[in-house]
Amino acid sequence: MSETLIQEKVLKTKAAPITAIILAAGKGTRMMSPLPKVLHPVAGQPMILRSIQAARGAGASEIRLIVGHGQNLVRNVVESTGVICFEQKEQLGTANAVKSADIENLEGEVLIMNGDHPLVEAQDLKNLLDNFRELKADIAVVTAIVKKPGDLGRIVRQKGVLKAIVEARDASPATLGIREINTGFYIMKAELLKNLLPEIKNNNTKGEYYLTDLITLAQENEYRIEAICGSRRIAHGVNNQAELSKATKYLFKKKAEKLMEDGVLMIDADSVYIEESVKVAAGSVIYPNVFLRGRTEIGAFCVLEPQVYISDCVIGQSVQIKQGSYLEKSEIHHNCSVGPYARLRPETLLKEEAHIGNFVELKKTVFGKKSKAGHLAYIGDAEIGDECNIGCGAITVNYSADKKKYKTKIGNKVFVGSDVQLIAPIEIGDEAILGAGSVLTKSVPARALAVARGKQFIKENYVAADGQTSSSDKKEI
Ligand code: UD1
Ligand code: MG
Repeated sequence: MSETLIQEKVLKTKAAPITAIILAAGKGTRMMSPLPKVLHPVAGQPMILRSIQAARGAGASEIRLIVGHGQNLVRNVVESTGVICFEQKEQLGTANAVKSADIENLEGEVLIMNGDHPLVEAQDLKNLLDNFRELKADIAVVTAIVKKPGDLGRIVRQKGVLKAIVEARDASPATLGIREINTGFYIMKAELLKNLLPEIKNNNTKGEYYLTDLITLAQENEYRIEAICGSRRIAHGVNNQAELSKATKYLFKKKAEKLMEDGVLMIDADSVYIEESVKVAAGSVIYPNVFLRGRTEIGAFCVLEPQVYISDCVIGQSVQIKQGSYLEKSEIHHNCSVGPYARLRPETLLKEEAHIGNFVELKKTVFGKKSKAGHLAYIGDAEIGDECNIGCGAITVNYSADKKKYKTKIGNKVFVGSDVQLIAPIEIGDEAILGAGSVLTKSVPARALAVARGKQFIKENYVAADGQTSSSDKKEI
């Protein structure tokens, strides 16, 4: 076969492109919040990112995002996803939003999605595509049967055949009684969209251009229309804070259930808040009110006690994080214990069997194997060797009056007494002993004792039997 023939064959067999158009320009008035609706987080992630992931997972070769209200913020959030943003200058309705997407150059199949249905999954959209192709439809809409259809568009059928989508505010009482609703997900041939979208008028209660009118127009023009009944989950739209909270709760519950299936123990699965991206190994125990966020990974046999908050941390095996601890962007190796009420700020690394106790804060610190800071210490911009003991109240004084940060380096097996202040930059050699209460400004060699504090003096009988002190005694203090 010649090269041109092969190319022609490849072109013929190549699946038609799928373009997704996601509508995200609306103000979200009912959210009563200054944040654009599609940026409201659902289980920790701006909801628009979930729609984008679903579209991409379903095989969309190109994603066009309609932005308008708060568009600079929205553009920022989606920047790294590779979607192309189109501005809808005035929010004149869902059909007008689609018009902004430069539809004249579309080919193949077009998937249109409302950007406020964060529970949609790639598989839902794949099912829609498969059904659409199998039924040889020109346009299909995903519907769902719900208990409380509220403000959602009603699916009007005649003898089972889809006739129209009627918005709640334009519906007669009889139509309002219909429980099958429009989920806001549509698939159609690009040709149909290009032909019919310009025909949509705004003669309805709201004076808006409704995308849902495509159905009536398609029918009038004898296109093949299908209504595909999907799950109630996909129908969950977010128009107010209560619906947002419900969506978040659903995702947290689903994640907890998945983790329990995989062997993670939970005292109360309804009160753990674990984002989808988090990994937890089998055998770990999670107590109530634990938040696990972002790229966090928890190894096997860890215990996360109540009120623990962990974001973007990698934690090894058999680590105990005690009550009320707050950990961000840190790494913890096997068999460490942290807390209660400890704080690990970004770029902290705890090596194996390290112990961080109550009210200890670490930042940008490598903390050596088997080293301990049991109580009330601040360790920042530091390197602490193995098997050190950091006493209660010790401080690495890293921030100088010149507004720069300086480093503290401590070798192995160093004993830092209670209330020692290490004025950085400073280096402490292996096995040195730093006396309690010292304010150290100079480096200390290995195996040395360093004490830098006022000498104690005793004046006996300083207080006379009558409780008075002499005036000359007073001068001495
Ligand atoms: C819409 C449907 C309704 C369906 C429901 C499902 C229409 C007319 N109605 O109603 O049948 O049951 O979704 O949730 O389509 N948007 C824009 N520009 C605009 C208006 C809206 O981009 O000018 C975006 C919004 O940001 C949102 C989506 O389109 O992501 C849907 O808009 P929304 O106002 O929430 O429509 P609903 O009233 O929920
Ligand atoms: Mg909506």
